Amino acid sequence: PQVTYVDHDGHETRVDVPLGENVMRGALYSGIEGIVGECGGGLSCATCHCYIDEDWIDTTGGPSSDAEAELLEQVATKLRPTSRLSCQIEITPALDGLVVHLPETQF
Ligand code: FES
Repeated sequence: PQVTYVDHDGHETRVDVPLGENVMRGALYSGIEGIVGECGGGLSCATCHCYIDEDWIDTTGGPSSDAEAELLEQVATKLRPTSRLSCQIEITPALDGLVVHLPETQF
């Protein structure tokens, strides 16, 4: 499935991310800056924050767990209703074409 990462300046990068991977690792594997993923997906760093594109909110849903919701409170940039921790978004066929927006900084 393809995921499009839109950086803070509006620059878009579309990459293939294997099924079963997550949106954080998709960015790291492709050298996309803007997602750090310091804890490697362990749900303890909040440096994989992204904003889901409005068109994809219905498909992705909200935080996948209470732990994600709690950690979202610690993101470095403004928390929005569309905020997610990208390591918690597993790539499924339904997410082909997903668009996520990257915050200005993760620290
Ligand atoms: Fe650390 Fe997502 S990579 S919380």
